[in-house]
Amino acid sequence: MSAIPTTFRAYVAERLGDRVDAGVRTLAPADLPSGEVEIRVHWSDVNYKDALATRFDGKVARTSPLVPGIDLAGEVISSADPAFRVGQEVVAHGYDLGVARHGGYADFARVPAAWVVPLPAGMTLREAMVLGTAGFTAALSVKRLEDRGLRPEHGPVLVTGATGGVGSHAVSMLAGRGYEVWALTGKADEHDWLRGLGAAGFLGRDDARADGPPLEKERWAAVVDSVGAATLAYGLRSLRRGGALALSGNAGGAALATTVFPFILRGVALLGIDSAYMEIAERRVLWARMADPADLRPRSLGERVTEVTLDTLEPAIASILAGGARGRWVVRVRDGE
Ligand SMILES: NC(=O)c1ccc[n+]([C@@H]2O[C@H](COP(=O)([O-])OP(=O)(O)OC[C@H]3O[C@@H](n4cnc5c(N)ncnc54)[C@H](OP(=O)(O)O)[C@@H]3O)[C@@H](O)[C@H]2O)c1
Repeated sequence: MSAIPTTFRAYVAERLGDRVDAGVRTLAPADLPSGEVEIRVHWSDVNYKDALATRFDGKVARTSPLVPGIDLAGEVISSADPAFRVGQEVVAHGYDLGVARHGGYADFARVPAAWVVPLPAGMTLREAMVLGTAGFTAALSVKRLEDRGLRPEHGPVLVTGATGGVGSHAVSMLAGRGYEVWALTGKADEHDWLRGLGAAGFLGRDDARADGPPLEKERWAAVVDSVGAATLAYGLRSLRRGGALALSGNAGGAALATTVFPFILRGVALLGIDSAYMEIAERRVLWARMADPADLRPRSLGERVTEVTLDTLEPAIASILAGGARGRWVVRVRDGE
């Protein structure tokens, strides 16, 4: 027996011929997929992937109609799994959410218990969505680099797409852990904000051109890259010997033009970061680390946060697709939060 009301609101994207019709509709509990945990969604957020899920050529949505929203935070209203109790605050993100099954842009969600993360102590539901998949991906990038041995004394770390969701959280997390962080950004007017997050130096997009030499001066102990394309090629050819680049995204393009030389002459590593499909136990541990100010919690979860609702999603989506991200968008799903 579902605890979800007979009707509720959701932002739905549906492919109709050669276009996508997107907007708020009324759904019923039977419209939601099966799952052990029913959640009253309080907050969601807007990631690059969410924006793509609403576009015809976005190559993200694997079903139609789809409630996008790869991230959600809310309160359990029923659970067939004893691991979760009614009233418990939880987060869910990734896996098939907002991609192949209905996600966070709805008043209610139904998800498998194996995808649910208890909200860590010391974090609000809103803060969880300021982090969201972007913050989680930044944290996972830092974790993968440090698991491989990276330490602050090894040298500066470059973060690309620095004003974006992944990038800005990565700058903050790395600086908080004592790294000398350099920010590569196309938005020179945001240097002050990035400096406040902990950036010690800056590169512009022209510094990461596609037509550079096979190897450049060794600069970075590590690179956190969510942009790809020319930026990724630059990161690889300017890593120090033995360094690594954690690659999570392609905001600047999907092609990679490089040579073998960074790999065979400097022994650098390219680490693929996939935040969507990972083991839930590791995911829950990383969320707890993101809540800990002595560990991966960013200095600020309040700056450069733009709030939208299900009714005002479209400008955020258009801006993110135009490379206009400056921090994060959160979606206030529950009125009065
Ligand atoms: N692998 C995973 O698990 C995972 C998880 C999360 C995100 N991602 C991917 O990571 C990427 C970033 O996601 P996000 O949510 O952080 O996006 P976002 O908030 O839109 O940030 C992307 C940033 O990239 C830079 N950028 C955008 N367009 C660019 C272009 N054409 N050329 C160069 N730089 C450009 C901009 O930063 P500046 O203006 O500061 O340069 C922008 O703020 C996306 O491709 C997303 O799909 C992957």
